[in-house]
Amino acid sequence: MSLTGKIALVTGAAQGIGRDIALGLAADGADVAICDVNLEAAQKTASDIAAGGRKTLALKANVAASAEVTAMIDQVVEKLGRIDILVNNAGITRDGLILRMKEEDWDLVLDINLKGSFNCAKSALKYLSKQRGGTIINIASIVGAMGNAGQANYVASKAGLIGLTKTIAREYANRGVTSNAVAPGFIDTAMTQALSENVRADLAKQIPLGRLGSPGDVANAVRFLASPAATYITGQVLHVNGGMYM
Ligand code: NAI
Repeated sequence: MSLTGKIALVTGAAQGIGRDIALGLAADGADVAICDVNLEAAQKTASDIAAGGRKTLALKANVAASAEVTAMIDQVVEKLGRIDILVNNAGITRDGLILRMKEEDWDLVLDINLKGSFNCAKSALKYLSKQRGGTIINIASIVGAMGNAGQANYVASKAGLIGLTKTIAREYANRGVTSNAVAPGFIDTAMTQALSENVRADLAKQIPLGRLGSPGDVANAVRFLASPAATYITGQVLHVNGGMYM
């Protein structure tokens, strides 16, 4: 129970990778607040956390809206007492080749994936820097390192998130705050279930370990980075991709 006494916030934790991260941090002893645009599903994650004996809170917030984020993080601190771990996991895709990509799809993906993480980090850092400790873990993507045809907006958002991670690490190291990114490869969630069977089978062939990852594979990396075992690690990108990118 290495996270006993710690308070975590996971964004986009109603389903998929975020849900497994939230449950994993709770299993390690943290009290875990979750936020999502889908409050009903977020409440299900929260009730599963509560069933395991940890304190929890499900909040509705759109991470792209800075005023909603400020109010949401203030509520976490008010109701759970503090914040030690922020996991910026909320993210979306709106794929298309560059010449066909609509401006609103570029803006929406950048707003949620990149500005949303900035908004949450900014509000949380107010508390983390004051208490001189804590960590921010950003869920990036393998494609942020590799590029990917048909995902200019998503790739730019995830590459930007890696830059944001390193900047937080440099700006707040002297306050005892660390920041790292976890870059998943292709993980079996609603996001990739939207791809055709052929595309998924092709992807699996490109992965040395021969399978898509599970949400738990990503959650395990986050649990490590959030743990006391990782306090000397900052500004890093931990790739969790079955060897697809080395
Ligand atoms: P998912 O689509 O299953 O879950 C995303 C969650 O974020 C949903 O609960 C959704 O309601 C929430 N969300 C969306 N927009 C939001 C907003 N504006 N404010 C608050 N919550 C919002 O996706 P999945 O696969 O679990 O992905 C989680 C993260 O992992 C994302 O950042 C994604 O980019 C990243 N990722 C996923 C990979 C995959 O293969 N599934 C690979 C690499 C990265």
